[in-house]
Amino acid sequence: MELPSTEALPDSLVVVTNRQPYTHEWTTGPVEGEIGERDVTVSSAAGGVTSALDPLLQVTGGTWVAWASGDADMAVAEDGVVTVPPGEDGYNLKRVPLSDAAVEGYYHGYSNQVLWPLCHEDTGRIWAAPSFWEQYRAVNDRFAEAVRSVTDADELVWFQDYHFGLAPRAVRSARPDATLHHFWHIPWPAPSVFEHCPHGAELLDGMLACNVVGFHTEMYAAQFLRCVAATLPEASVDRDSGVVSYKGTETRALANPLGIDVDGVEGLAKTVDTDAVRRRVLDDGMAHPSIRLVLGVERLDYSKGILERIAALDHLWDRRPDLRGAFTYVQKGSRTREGIPTYRRYRQDVLDEVNRVNETYGTDDWQPIAYTEQNFDMETLVGLYRAAAVALVTPHRDGMNLVAHEYPAACVEDTGTLVLSELAGAATQLDGALMVNPHDVAEIASTLERALELDDAERRDRLARLQASVAALDSRTWVQRQFAAAE
Ligand code: G6P
Repeated sequence: MELPSTEALPDSLVVVTNRQPYTHEWTTGPVEGEIGERDVTVSSAAGGVTSALDPLLQVTGGTWVAWASGDADMAVAEDGVVTVPPGEDGYNLKRVPLSDAAVEGYYHGYSNQVLWPLCHEDTGRIWAAPSFWEQYRAVNDRFAEAVRSVTDADELVWFQDYHFGLAPRAVRSARPDATLHHFWHIPWPAPSVFEHCPHGAELLDGMLACNVVGFHTEMYAAQFLRCVAATLPEASVDRDSGVVSYKGTETRALANPLGIDVDGVEGLAKTVDTDAVRRRVLDDGMAHPSIRLVLGVERLDYSKGILERIAALDHLWDRRPDLRGAFTYVQKGSRTREGIPTYRRYRQDVLDEVNRVNETYGTDDWQPIAYTEQNFDMETLVGLYRAAAVALVTPHRDGMNLVAHEYPAACVEDTGTLVLSELAGAATQLDGALMVNPHDVAEIASTLERALELDDAERRDRLARLQASVAALDSRTWVQRQFAAAE
């Protein structure tokens, strides 16, 4: 990734995330005494945040603070710190170990059973056991302490996502002159939804310790300001400038859409062997290049709209028997947050529906849905994107959704149509997709039908517009805009 010019970057930076950029696991089991290279495996995270921030920290130097979730993480660290990328002198990764009770309350609890459903406007799924808030507070304090231990008085600290609503206030109390940034990667809801948050005022108080709070869209930033005005009477909110004055700090609410490393995805797409990827991912019968593919790629999260999409396929194959055998739908599902019963149930519902549809329509020669939970490296994923005639990205709500960016960037042969939920953040940024309401099963079905039958000229025009809007938003611009907002 090409980075902003070094003048635009701070001398040193502290980034705080829940997930680490690099994780150490024991290869065969814990080792006593000196640890050799073969004893541990290091994996790097593939997500959008890591691909934006890891190259940045390699240039600025500084520290990345994150939860020590790997079983060998602390054994290979000195005072909880390792230098990364492995074997290079890039930056420090400061690991924060958490007890099982802390992970349960802070991660499986408050972050993912209160804030996640709240921000995705699924308030019926909010569950706020007393220990959740206690642990969320305690873990945010732990992270604030870790930040204080690695920063100077005025260093720039950038918190990422909904796991850290409270830590900025704890850092601000000890470091009045620090420049604190936050980026909230998931949607921010309207006040009528935010009212459901059992600790809304405390959460906003924590975030307003920052100088800049970033969101993917104008709507989320505006809703944040409306929630502040509705919840904290002592805050003064200037909607025009997007600035809140509160407890002696001015906080700018910034709309700052994140993009992808466009050159990286395009580069991989140009060289990947799509036939080999098909053979790796699909069963023999389905791997043949003559079979058209429609693709969905997501974590098995109820906000992603996977069940509605499968219902839409069922509807389409029922209504258009001539489309049976015309394409296979590939669903890549990543298992996620399985400590939470709702997620376990959602996965099971997806598996049941895939089986039902396959039993209803499948033949000896044709599998309607090819479902996989294989872990793909980026090259395989990009190869699948390139091989797919259509991608379906239909979340109920999504902060941004980077699959919607990666897919067109990988379509280097000028084929490929994106069907996109109008309620994903990406819908506010990307021009050229076929838009759907993610709850409207009949509309998803008819839009997929249209996508499969688009004439060449329209397909190319839509893809070119998508590629242009993806290129206008790459992750480098995101970093630049965030830092510029504090000036
Ligand atoms: C979303 C969140 C990220 C999170 C990711 C995966 O994209 O915004 O912060 O890391 O989901 O979820 P997980 O719970 O596995 O970290």
